[in-house]
Amino acid sequence: METSKLKKLVLLVAAIIVVVAATAVFFFNKHNQVITEGPQSVIAANEVKSAEWGKIYPAHWDSYMANMNNAEKPSHFITKPYMQTIYAGTGFAAEFNEPRGHLYTIQDVTSINPARYKIGAACFTCKSTQSPEMMKKYGDQYYLMSFDEMKNQITEPIGCLDCHDPKTMKLRITRPALIEALQRQGRDVNKLSNQEMRTLVCAQCHVTYYFQPGTKKVTFPWDNGVSAQEILSYYDEKNFTEWVHPIAGTNLVKARHAEYETYMGSTHQSAGVACADCHMPYIMVGNKKISSHNWQSPLNNIEQSCTTCHRNGTEWLKTRVETIQKQVKQSQDLAGAAVVGAINELKISREYPTVDKAKLQEAMKLHREAQWYLDYVMVTNGYGFHNPTATLDNLNTAIDKAHKSVEKAREARGAN
Ligand code: HEC
Ligand code: HEC
Ligand code: HEC
Ligand code: HEC
Repeated sequence: METSKLKKLVLLVAAIIVVVAATAVFFFNKHNQVITEGPQSVIAANEVKSAEWGKIYPAHWDSYMANMNNAEKPSHFITKPYMQTIYAGTGFAAEFNEPRGHLYTIQDVTSINPARYKIGAACFTCKSTQSPEMMKKYGDQYYLMSFDEMKNQITEPIGCLDCHDPKTMKLRITRPALIEALQRQGRDVNKLSNQEMRTLVCAQCHVTYYFQPGTKKVTFPWDNGVSAQEILSYYDEKNFTEWVHPIAGTNLVKARHAEYETYMGSTHQSAGVACADCHMPYIMVGNKKISSHNWQSPLNNIEQSCTTCHRNGTEWLKTRVETIQKQVKQSQDLAGAAVVGAINELKISREYPTVDKAKLQEAMKLHREAQWYLDYVMVTNGYGFHNPTATLDNLNTAIDKAHKSVEKAREARGAN
């Protein structure tokens, strides 16, 4: 009796030990999973399908696929209702959503309100690994093709080929507009350091641009510099107008996601920090340390994105970011209201029979400037964190110019 009980107990303990040991081995192996990547130089020179690269780089592929988790795309109009008045006369007033993960580009560009298709094939320039190939195939005709003509040929979202040379895996620039803009600045694109490339691969798309009149060629307006003021001076010198505001009658220019331009001259940029330092921190996948390819808000993983350089703790960093962004949002709302005020005042003055045309023109010029300084901030992601000083400065300028536009518009009809 005693011995059989003892036997049972021994068996039970043995069974438990086996289970615990097996579990431990399983988790140990999972954590130390040996992930082998490479060999290099087996990927075709123009391999647009990232899944093919993923077969050789499985850890990077997993990280890249995690971009699917960044799936929210709320309308900009919810937090910035004044946008629709400011953008009247453009497709942006019809539908304008906040960005989401890199893997959604094709889905998003093809499901947007058709009012946005007017631009044509050029919309795909920053959405697909296939667009450089299309530019080669069609030459300058690419930019003149319709949205639908291009849509039928494009299936792949942003991927490996956009930033890497398939033979060496070195970072590279694939978008001609960036190469040309850097060359016009007198820079040798073959002599860019790796740290610069960790920012410039993003500057292929996270920049403002315009379509050259006639050719519709995507061009970066950087010849005078990349600050809001320098870009506006470039447009003014060229007498460039993207659209005429239907209510105010003003010749306007449109800013686009100027993350790179805003970042230039910031504290972090001056200290040599690159986009990839915050947005592609090192992470562990199994036993492998890789640069995260899940491009997202660094606030989702402050431990990896910031604390490598900052030892003040994650709470302090999070609060700093939130404080900056709150301040920017408040000033931006003031600027939004001020620009809408200018539009309303211009409408009244334009319809006034004996309006002073010269003063009305001055008021419109001030509206053009106010709109530009606000837009440069409003469509740039990060709510000012990338460069708080320049961002608040631009918003102050927007508010000042908009108020002056209101004054001038009233003066033009003798209402002051
Ligand atoms: C938006 C640009 C971009 C895209 C798209 C991209 N990468 Fe990268 N990749 C980078 C950057 C930046 C680095 C860091 C390079 C450095 O510091 O030298 C990097 C590094 C790497 C490395 C070197 C090891 C490491 O993790 O630092 C490999 C391998 C790699 N990427 C594979 C891929 C694969 C596979 C894909 C597609 C599934 C891909 N990358 C897509 C920008 C990109
Ligand atoms: C080929 C063009 C292209 C390149 C190169 C590129 N991006 Fe993007 N990026 C986009 C587009 C387009 C979106 C928006 C996608 C959507 O909403 O469908 C986006 C979205 C993002 C988002 C998500 C934004 C959000 O609000 O959730 C982040 C973060 C981001 N990019 C960072 C980077 C960084 C950092 C680099 C460089 C390492 C980079 N991107 C390179 C085009 C690009
Ligand atoms: C010092 C760290 C840092 C650097 C460097 C940096 N960013 Fe950011 N970025 C941030 C933070 C913080 C946010 C705000 C995230 C939020 O609001 O959730 C942000 C937001 C963004 C967003 C919007 C993402 C979202 O989810 O709202 C994009 C796109 C982006 N950055 C692109 C870039 C590009 C391109 C560069 C280089 C030109 C760059 N960033 C350099 C820290 C950085
Ligand atoms: C590669 C290093 C590096 C990374 C990564 C980095 N920073 Fe910084 N940060 C610096 C340096 C250098 C400075 C300037 C000197 C200082 O204030 O310590 C700075 C300054 C700052 C400042 C003061 C800014 C100012 O304009 O005065 C804030 C706030 C900040 N960082 C937040 C962040 C946040 C949030 C992240 C992550 C999203 C981050 N940093 C990632 C290096 C880094």
